[in-house]
Amino acid sequence: MPDTPNIQQLLGLQHIEWVGDATTGHLRLLDQTRLPNEQVFLECRDVQSVWDAIKRLSVRGAPAIGIAAAFGCVVGVRGTTSEADTRAALKRAADHLATSRPTAVNLFWALDRMQQVKPCTPEALLTEAKAIHAEDEAMCLQIGEHTLPLIEQAMSGADSPGASQQPGRAGLLTHCNAGALATGGIGTATAGMYLAHQRALPITVYADETRPLLQGARLTAYELQSAGVDVTLICDDMAAHVMRQGKVQLVITGADRIAANGDAANKIGTYNLAVLAHHHAIPFYVAAPSSTFDMAIPDGSHIPIEERAASEITEGFGQRTAPNNVKTYSPAFDVTPNDLITAIVTERGVISPVDTDHVAQVLGYV
Ligand code: MRU
Repeated sequence: MPDTPNIQQLLGLQHIEWVGDATTGHLRLLDQTRLPNEQVFLECRDVQSVWDAIKRLSVRGAPAIGIAAAFGCVVGVRGTTSEADTRAALKRAADHLATSRPTAVNLFWALDRMQQVKPCTPEALLTEAKAIHAEDEAMCLQIGEHTLPLIEQAMSGADSPGASQQPGRAGLLTHCNAGALATGGIGTATAGMYLAHQRALPITVYADETRPLLQGARLTAYELQSAGVDVTLICDDMAAHVMRQGKVQLVITGADRIAANGDAANKIGTYNLAVLAHHHAIPFYVAAPSSTFDMAIPDGSHIPIEERAASEITEGFGQRTAPNNVKTYSPAFDVTPNDLITAIVTERGVISPVDTDHVAQVLGYV
């Protein structure tokens, strides 16, 4: 069995890292807004700088937001001298970090978990944050292992009439970045791609550029290319055409929050892909760890959808591309209904069909 890939090997860096000890150390984050052009690190020594990094998407992707927030709690208790003092500082930090972004449930999951830590000391909190990080890495790998058979199935689909890849080569389409940069490990949607690549399985990944902030172009294309995975960048509005040409045998995306019935929120544009995949009879998979499920909500209508600033649409990268004062609407996520999802791949197994009973069964809640 080949060595397990990790982010250090894939990208030559750690994008989330605690530096130093619990009482004087700090959180180091790769500033993803600067990719792919520059590798710049943010040194976060107070809670506000962690909050800012999450809000402006310097660290983003549901699992990575949760991990960063967990370390942000440790940043928040620096300088405390008694357990009561530490607990009060932890609550202030967690309450504030919880206001950074509303959709990814991993944020709230990690903050809740940090607040359960006993004894409430900086050392114990750092141990817990590191555990959240390490567990996420392991979950990514398990998701990858559960995705591999689906990719192998797609490779046999690539031989069918109408497919236009080379025989046996599977075309995999993904959206946004649910990759190593979005997690503590090898990503969720990308995990199977990295494992397939490591095993020399013939795959071509189509990465949607992902308007308006281009996570697909800036991050997914960057990390897959850095790792040597065959990746082709397309604009979001090319997906239907590319599917009709027979270049796509499988669609796989991440998720920010999945309701108890399997309805899944992910980056705006994901729902479009699910509709298109259904029309073209292409399997549509969501890959996510159990920490992305919100079992307290019955369906996707309860998922809070973040709205982003107009400037991200009208002058996203410093160049004005719309008239002054034009009205905009910028939901950052959409919800794909469970009936359009072929399966959800989790670290605990593959949920299919996607409905309340099968979600509970595979996650082990019944
Ligand atoms: O706004 P972002 O970049 O945080 O959105 C990220 C996504 O939509 C990802 O697909 C999702 O968080 C899953 S990351 C494994």
